[in-house]
Amino acid sequence: MDYDTVVIGAGAAGLMCAAQAPGRCLVIEHAKTIGEKIRISGGGRCNFTNIYASPDNYISQNPHFVKSALARYTQWDFIDWVSRSGIAYHEKTLGQLFCDGSAKEIIAMLRQAIETANAKIWVSTSVKDLTQIENGFRVLLQRPEGTLSVSTKNIVVACGGKPIPKMGATDFGLRLANQFGLNVTETYAGLVPFTFAGKQLEDFKAISGVATTAKLSSNGQSFKEAILFTHRGMSGPASLQISSYWTPGEEVTVNLLDIETLNLRIMEAKVEEGRKSPNTVLTRLLPARLVPRLLADLYLPERIADMTALNISALTNRLTNWKLTPAGTEGYRTAEVMVGGVDTNSLSSKTMQANKVNGLYFIGECVDITGWLGGYNFQWAWSSGWVAGQSIRESLI
Ligand code: FDA
Repeated sequence: MDYDTVVIGAGAAGLMCAAQAPGRCLVIEHAKTIGEKIRISGGGRCNFTNIYASPDNYISQNPHFVKSALARYTQWDFIDWVSRSGIAYHEKTLGQLFCDGSAKEIIAMLRQAIETANAKIWVSTSVKDLTQIENGFRVLLQRPEGTLSVSTKNIVVACGGKPIPKMGATDFGLRLANQFGLNVTETYAGLVPFTFAGKQLEDFKAISGVATTAKLSSNGQSFKEAILFTHRGMSGPASLQISSYWTPGEEVTVNLLDIETLNLRIMEAKVEEGRKSPNTVLTRLLPARLVPRLLADLYLPERIADMTALNISALTNRLTNWKLTPAGTEGYRTAEVMVGGVDTNSLSSKTMQANKVNGLYFIGECVDITGWLGGYNFQWAWSSGWVAGQSIRESLI
């Protein structure tokens, strides 16, 4: 065999795996540079993990699958490596850790480890053909100087998911899974802004740029974070989070205010400032540009003192239980992740190796494991890449 391991994809998971896998390891990457999604992540500062990462923060048809890898290589293991590498970081919010300086420091840390492990990285290289041979695989590579055939004991598929095709994202990992008889679950764009149509879109365009905190719910899941109205619809962390749980045609429920706070405010205002309009009173609780849009079709009286029980009920319902039906999402063009992927039933959760194909591993985003927004997806890439690397290490001893 020419190599012990060929890793396809020099993203977060592939680089982590190559840094762990001993022996003759080759990483191939079809883009011109490695770790492009790491570089652009977190606004250039890479939200590289989350201190609260746990299996509860992941979506999968088998929610138990993440447990083993996340327990064997935890966020604390990665944080320790980052610290030992002298990379300064900070917690921004909700346990999300970002580099103080640049995401490029994380790429440099991974590259350094790969160099120390004596693994090779070939960029501008793609796979033309992959076949199983006795005790391994034959890979036909397309390099700038021509085609080249190499043999390897292990193949690690770390091609990521479909988001941001213009950065080189492909469904190649899923196609390889199909080729080797592994199931692939339904895939769709996650952590992605919602789009709206018709009157709702016109309303949102008019308040484009307005942000507020809201609790968004869909399909039994809720997130309370910021939302942002845009000229296409709705974005912001809470929207992105709930988009991973939303299915087309479903409603998203928006709760803008705590019901007790709202009722108290209305009662106080009716007594103390009854001549003021509901609009004026509410702009103390919500952004001034948002309130008239929310109240427009409720036909409330001019003075808050004149609000009837029916008016109050309609207002409370709008502000705590606003039902919106998105037309869709912005799709893979702007999504941060792909939901779904290689069926975890086809893989070992301890090693990420295919159950029925010895030496074939799938790691990172191409697997049916999707993290929440906030560093959880990189943690999955590190954890799954690490366990695959350890498995290869043990197989070579
Ligand atoms: P990744 O996509 O990183 O790597 C796959 C690699 O394979 C790529 O380099 C690709 O070019 C290569 N490849 C694909 N097909 C190939 C082929 N046929 N041959 C050779 N190479 C091939 N997550 C997080 O936790 N914190 C964050 O801050 C962010 N921020 C963020 C911002 C944006 C804009 C996006 C789009 C995504 C994020 N994410 C994130 C998500 C995170 O980037 C993602 O979960 C990981 O990069 C997944 O790591 P992988 O290694 O699995 O795929």
